[in-house]
This record gives sequence, structure tokens and C-alpha cells, in this order.
Amino acid sequence: MNAIVFDHVSKDYGNVLAVDDVSLSIEPGKTVALLGPNGAGKSTSINMLLGLLRPSRGTVSVFGRTPRQAVAAGQMGAMLQSGQLIPELSVKELIDLVRNPYPEPLDLEEILKLADLTDLVKRRANKLSGGQSQRVRFALAIAGAPKALLLDEPTAAMDVESRLRFWESMRGYAAGGRTVLFATHYLEEADEHSDRVIVIAKGRVVADGTAARIKADVGGQAVRFTLGEQPAAGLDLLPGVTAVEVAAGTATLRTSDTDATLAGLYRGTTLDVRDLQLSGADLEDAFLALTRES
Ligand SMILES: Nc1ncnc2c1ncn2[C@@H]1O[C@H](COP(=O)(O)OP(=O)(O)OP(=O)(O)O)[C@@H](O)[C@H]1O
Ligand SMILES: [Mg+2]
Repeated sequence: MNAIVFDHVSKDYGNVLAVDDVSLSIEPGKTVALLGPNGAGKSTSINMLLGLLRPSRGTVSVFGRTPRQAVAAGQMGAMLQSGQLIPELSVKELIDLVRNPYPEPLDLEEILKLADLTDLVKRRANKLSGGQSQRVRFALAIAGAPKALLLDEPTAAMDVESRLRFWESMRGYAAGGRTVLFATHYLEEADEHSDRVIVIAKGRVVADGTAARIKADVGGQAVRFTLGEQPAAGLDLLPGVTAVEVAAGTATLRTSDTDATLAGLYRGTTLDVRDLQLSGADLEDAFLALTRES
């Protein structure tokens, strides 16, 4: 049975179509990144998975149940984009408050360890830094030992060090065969911390696969050089080239065959090619290309 299924799901807010006919399924035990720009429909999708929003059309299911049933059964944990901690309570009190109603919660010690909060148990919520508060919100999300964990931009407002620690915690939790879905605009995060990346833009899935697969789909390598004032005409006709972009005097040629493109560039043109760089298309390039096409 799949952990998460979207079957032709759409959601409109008045005349805004936030999610547009999305169908996908996620196997148990996978960590999946939902990657997309602002307004893509990431939070709307997550909120539908939690039963906080109802789809306008189509159905969402979690472990074969409706989202509300799954939440009621303690199978779902979430870190939402908004949400305050009760300021006067200590970290331990907050965790106890959330943990106690669950039939089989995680041990307090394990939660503290996974969320890296052991040294902060007595600290009141209103005395936590932004990154520490995020770790507490993660602790609350895992407190009930949910089989599926939904994280909506969990590392927003974290510095580099906190992010690294956060992703370690997430992996620690996912390692027990749990399913994790996280929304992000950080392309590196999607690339590094998921088994699968689902790219959404304007409410539609525009790519779905491993980060490596998505990069390959977008057309391999890039050749970049300083063009200066020289004309760009004809670059798109060089062998292997699939797309040409010129910005601020720099030409970027996307190519499926770097060798042929370079040979053509040096032998077939009279351009003065300076500052030549070759790179594999990174996820950022892939993402920009995919969201532009949509
Ligand atoms: N309550 C609402 N009423 C009207 N429109 C909404 C509402 N919530 C979201 N939208 C619109 O739906 C679209 C999708 O929003 P959503 O919050 O799902 O995007 P997102 O991918 O989470 O973006 P972000 O990266 O900024 O968090 C946007 O165009 C947004 O303006
Ligand atoms: Mg959002």
C-alpha cells in the first residue's frame, strides 16, 4: 500500500487554481522533496494531506485512509509554515503536552536526541532562538511517532550549521522506515536529502524523479563563456546545443554533447571565446528551465 496518494487532485481558492490536477503516489519509507517556487502549491498540497483543506476535486489518501482518519490514528506528524509555540512552557512541557495523548509516542529521551534538544529541556519557548524553535517544532512533529512526517519549509530561517543538524535529525527519523515529505525552495536540500524530487510549479507537477534524473532530463551539460559585445547569432546552430541564453555578456549553451559543441565553437566560429567553463546542469538550472516551460 502507498503511504500517500493524490488522485487527480485540484484545489481552487475562488478563481486561483492553487493545485491543478495532481496525481502521484509515494511509497512508504521514502523521503520525498516537494520543490517549487513561491505560490507553486506546496503548502496547499501539504495542508490537504493533513485534512486541513479539502480538495476541490479528486481524492487524497494516506495509508489507504482519508487524511482526517490518518491524523486521528496518530499516523501523521507535521511542521507547518506557520504556527507558534506556547511561550511560557519549557521545551519538556511542550513535548509532554503533545506526546501524552498519543497511544504509542516516542520516548522523551529519543525525541530530545533526534531533535538535538537535550541541552535545552528546561528552556522556555520564548527564550529560544529561531533555529532552536524550529527544532522544538520538529520535536513536536515526531512526538507521536508518526509513520508519515510532513515538513513545510522546515529550515526556513536556519543558518547553515542549524540546517545541517536539522537534516541529520530528519534522516535519523526517516531511517526507521518512516515516510517523509518536505517542501522546499532550496534546491540543494532537495538534491541532498531526498530519494525523490517532485517539482511543482503553478499547481502542476513539472518533473518527478531522482535529482539525477531531473538533471538529465533537462539536457546534460552547460558550456559557458564570456561573449562580451560579440554577436550571439548562430550559437544555437552549433552541434549538440539545445538552448542558448545570453545575459550580461555571458553566453550559456546547454548541450547534449559537450565535445561536439566545443569543437564547433572553436572551429566553426570566429568568436574570441574567453573564460570558458563547463558544468553539469545543476538542479538550479533544471528547476529554472522546468518552471519556465510550464
Ligand atoms: N487562503 C488562500 N486564499 C486564496 N489564495 C490562496 C490561499 N492560500 C494560498 N493561495 C494561493 O494559492 C497558490 C498556492 O499557494 P501555496 O501557499 O500552496 O504555495 P507554496 O508553494 O506553499 O508557496 P511558498 O513557497 O510561498 O510557501 C498561490 O497562488 C497563493 O497565492
Ligand atoms: Mg508554502
